[in-house]
Amino acid sequence: PRYIWLSRHGESIYNLEKKIGGDSSLSQRGLQYAEKLPEFVRESAGDRDLTVWTSTLIRTQETAQHLPYKQLQWKALDELDAGVCDGMTYEEIEETFPEDFKARDEDKYEYRYRGGESYRDVVIRLEPIIMELERQENILIITHQAVLRCIYAYFMNVPQEESPWMSIPLHTLIRLEPRAYATHVTKIKANI
Ligand code: G3H
Repeated sequence: PRYIWLSRHGESIYNLEKKIGGDSSLSQRGLQYAEKLPEFVRESAGDRDLTVWTSTLIRTQETAQHLPYKQLQWKALDELDAGVCDGMTYEEIEETFPEDFKARDEDKYEYRYRGGESYRDVVIRLEPIIMELERQENILIITHQAVLRCIYAYFMNVPQEESPWMSIPLHTLIRLEPRAYATHVTKIKANI
């Protein structure tokens, strides 16, 4: 069978501080996930030879650091760009840009951060990634929540407009097996 594995990066320092965006390193827990990941992947992939795709951001590369496979970085896998809100908490965004906060709440798919991106923008920049994925076998993608929501929605045949609400838990390895009429999903959750 043809599989695709997905994982968010391990918990980052910014995750702990409830800040979005940035380019922070992993927290202690995040590093523990990175250490366990090779074992999880082996459990799920056996001795298949995988290729690991990460974003260009430090937290995805730190998550991939112990994996014994070829690795490729894609700028197109970087997190949704929050523009002027990069590095802020949601509380700070609500205080500083109350109208934007409300607009995003009302239409999370279309809302574009000032100087940044919307989910729709991410879906469009992911097109080459999706095309390449359709041609390849045994790819493990380590990237960010918003990006994974869009990739997951695509393979689950969920309308892209619903991608902002897909649940992609932290510290969980997801295996997708695209079949003729539906994608079969298996999840392995780390106990950390
Ligand atoms: O900073 C980006 C987050 O991964 C996406 O979260 O789209 O639910 O605000 P959100």
